[in-house]
Order: sequence, then structure tokens, then C-alpha cells
Amino acid sequence: MNTHSTDTGETAELTFRGKTLSLPVLTGSEGEVALDIANLRKATGAVTRDYGYLNTGSCESAITFLDGEKGILRYRGYPVEELAEKSRFVEVAYLLINGHMPDANERRQWSSLLNQHSMMHEDMRHFFYRYPERAHPMAILSAMVVSLSTFYPELSQHRPDEPEEAINIAATRLMSKLRTIAAFSYKKSIGEPFVYPRHDLKYCANFLNMMFSSPVCPYDIKPEVVQALNVLLILHADHEQNCSTSAVRLVGSARVNLYASVAAGICALWGPLHGGANQMVIDMLEDILASGRSVKDYVESVKASKGKELLYGFGHRVYKTYDPRAKIIKRSCDSVLKVLNVNDPLLDLAFELEEIAMRDDYFVSRNLYPNVDFYSGIIYRAIGIPKEMFTVMFALGRLPGWIAQWKEAREDPRFKLQRPRQIYTGPRIRHLEPEHISSEA
Ligand code: CMC
Repeated sequence: MNTHSTDTGETAELTFRGKTLSLPVLTGSEGEVALDIANLRKATGAVTRDYGYLNTGSCESAITFLDGEKGILRYRGYPVEELAEKSRFVEVAYLLINGHMPDANERRQWSSLLNQHSMMHEDMRHFFYRYPERAHPMAILSAMVVSLSTFYPELSQHRPDEPEEAINIAATRLMSKLRTIAAFSYKKSIGEPFVYPRHDLKYCANFLNMMFSSPVCPYDIKPEVVQALNVLLILHADHEQNCSTSAVRLVGSARVNLYASVAAGICALWGPLHGGANQMVIDMLEDILASGRSVKDYVESVKASKGKELLYGFGHRVYKTYDPRAKIIKRSCDSVLKVLNVNDPLLDLAFELEEIAMRDDYFVSRNLYPNVDFYSGIIYRAIGIPKEMFTVMFALGRLPGWIAQWKEAREDPRFKLQRPRQIYTGPRIRHLEPEHISSEA
């Protein structure tokens, strides 16, 4: 489903070296304004410079709306708060990928397709045994996902004439198998036998069962834990043109298959400034606890470091107010810990850290509020998920967003190979000196 921005009929005039260029003014469905600079270089010879793409709209998208000043996040128009309260993750995944909420019939079909594709090719199991003991699960996850393209090559091509059905099967396969791959990588890391997916369990319960049951001890699937996981995955499901989604779109723009594009997204997500921050938050809280330092002292050292140290789980490129996802996760921390009878000293520490930071001018003046990664790890810990797996959980949640964005890009007739320009600042032309030229063959 592709909708386009509206040309307002206005223009912005850019005068450069005596020439004036009229830039069309576009507007999106929520009123955001954009200047179309497609003809800038041709008309003026100049390119733009925008480190980190702070001002660059790389595409038009009808999937997620985000207002960072007001703390608004909506998927396909639905507020994320409403979806988190009233839907399940697989329904939200369907919404993101297909553009509408599934009706009862579509829900049944989607569920049965997810079951049908939940097993991994048996040969892929052997891959897990070849990784070193301390291999990070995000590396395994991305390698496994790109490997899917070798097991299902017939459906992995990203050609313009690829039948829609083939793309949909690849998307369903990914949705279902990523969960199995994630659980298998955890089982491998603790040396336990793999637990296969079960058709009688729904998506989140199935995942928890694959993670925590064993031949000697079945896992007691608590509905409150299933619900908490559903909410966490929904809150991570899409976030418009973030770093990993942009990676998926950029890699996909070379017309590579869906599996390879998503594998690139997984690698980008792993970074500590992006999804990897959820693991860093727990590392940080554990360090503070182990060192016996006061939270105030820790915050002071972050400030004194002038950007070298960070308060992980704080700050966001787009939100200049409290991240709406963090608000929901913070609320559910207390209830999940209560249900599971867990008393986690890191939660008290996190509350204290937030309170101190929110009273400190350094954080207030820079609009640095807790983001989605600040409290999510506390819930994952309570469920029993180790911190090395936190970013894998983020990837599970973000997958429908990556798929939806990849599909949307592919269906957009304006989707071009993404190839930015640069401003070259290296040496001007020079030539090899005789001492650079070796006489050896
Ligand atoms: N702790 C301390 N100072 C910070 C932090 C932080 N977490 N985040 C930003 N700052 C400071 C930064 O040093 C800079 O200070 P100054 O103006 O004195 O140079 C100022 O705030 C502006 O920061 P920026 O780096 O220009 O902002 P950005 O938009 O490029 O960075 C960010 C956004 C998320 C990379 C950054 O806030 C950060 O590194 N946060 C910690 C990592 C983190 O929690 N990442 C998860 C983001 S949410 C999940 C996701 O979607 O990825």
C-alpha cells in the first residue's frame, strides 16, 4: 500500500551563486513539511551535507508515525498504547506488514501459516554447534537469517517480477523461524538440547516454551509473562527510519533478498547506540551495584566525561520528551516482578538513576529522557532471559517492522539504489615517487 505526500503548490527559493532554484514543498498526512531537493545538484552543482541524517527524509512511508516532541507513536494510525493494551504481537505484525488489522478469518490463517513455517531445516541445526562457546547470539542470529536464503533460494530473490506470494511466504517464514532460531541459540549457549516449536501454543508462549522447557522439566507458562512479552514485542515492532530499518532499506535497495536485508538490520541493531543499549543498561546498573558507588557519583562521572561515557537507556535522536514505549514498560516492570515474585535491586537502582537524571540540568537541558531500552532489561531478567539475549528479543520485536518497510520500499516505483554523495576531503592528485615502486614481481 503506497500513499504519496501532497505537493502543497508552495515553493522554497534557494539562491546560490546567483542562481535561484525553486524547491517544491511537500507535506505528509500528519502535516510534516519537506523540501524536495531532488534537482539540487543538477541545478546548482551542490550536494547537501547532513551527518547522521538529522534533516534527511530518505523515503515516504505509510507505516509508522512518530512525533518526538509530543511523544506520539502510531502504527498504521493506531496509537501504540492501544495496541499494547488490546492486541497480541502477531496481530500487530500482521497490521504492520499488511496495512490493516486482521479479522477473525485472517487471524486464523496467519496463525496457521506461522505454525506451518516454525520449524527450521534440520541441516541448519548443525550450524549452531560450530560457533565458539562465547559467541554473541546477535552474530549467530544474523548469520542464521542470511543462511535462510541458501535453504530457500527459490523464494529469496528480490526481482521486480517476483510474485507477491513468494515474498509473503518468505516474510512468514522469517517471522516464524526467527523465534525458533533465537530460542535455539539460547539453548546452545547453555548446552541444553533444543526444544522444538509446538503447534498448540501461540507465538509468545511457544517462544517461552522453546527457551525454558527441557526434557526433564516442563516450563510453566504463566499468562502474565506471555502478556508482558506480547507488550514488549509490540512496543519494539516498528520505529520508522531508525538505524537498523534504514540498513534494511539501504541493503534492500541493491535488490538483494529479504533474508539478506534483514540480516543487515540485525547487525545494525546490535550496536550499543541502538538496540544493543538494552544489554548495556544492565551492564551499567550491575557495575554501579558491584562498585558500591552512589548513583549520584555515577551520573557526575558521565557528565564529566563530556560524551565519552553515556547513561545507557537515555536519550533518543527523535524523542525530545519521555519515550512513550518506556512509559508503558516502566509501568509493567512492577506488576511483572510482583507476579514472578522477583525482587530485583537493579529496578530500585534504575528508578533512582532516572530520578537523579531528571532533576539534573545536564539531562533536562539536552532532553535526555529514558528510552525503550532503559526498563525493558529488568522485565527480561525477571522472565529469566539472560542479558546477552536482550538485543535478540529486540530483533524479534522489530522484525515485522523491517519486513513491512522492505516490502513498502519494494512496492514504491520511486525506490532507487541508495547511494549518498560525499564531500571529498582527501589529498588532491599526486603521483608515486620512485621509492614507492617495487622491483619485485
Ligand atoms: N548520556 C549522556 N549524554 C548523552 C546521552 C546519554 N545517553 N545521549 C546524548 N547525550 C549528550 C551528548 O553527549 C550531547 O552532548 P553535547 O551537546 O554536550 O555534545 C547531547 O546529549 C546530544 O547528543 P547527540 O549524541 O548529539 O544525540 P544523538 O541524537 O546523536 O544521539 C543516541 C541519540 C540515542 C545515540 C544517544 O542519546 C545515546 O547514545 N544514548 C545512549 C544509547 C542508547 O540508549 N541508545 C538507545 C536508543 S533507543 C533504542 C533505539 O531505537 O535505538
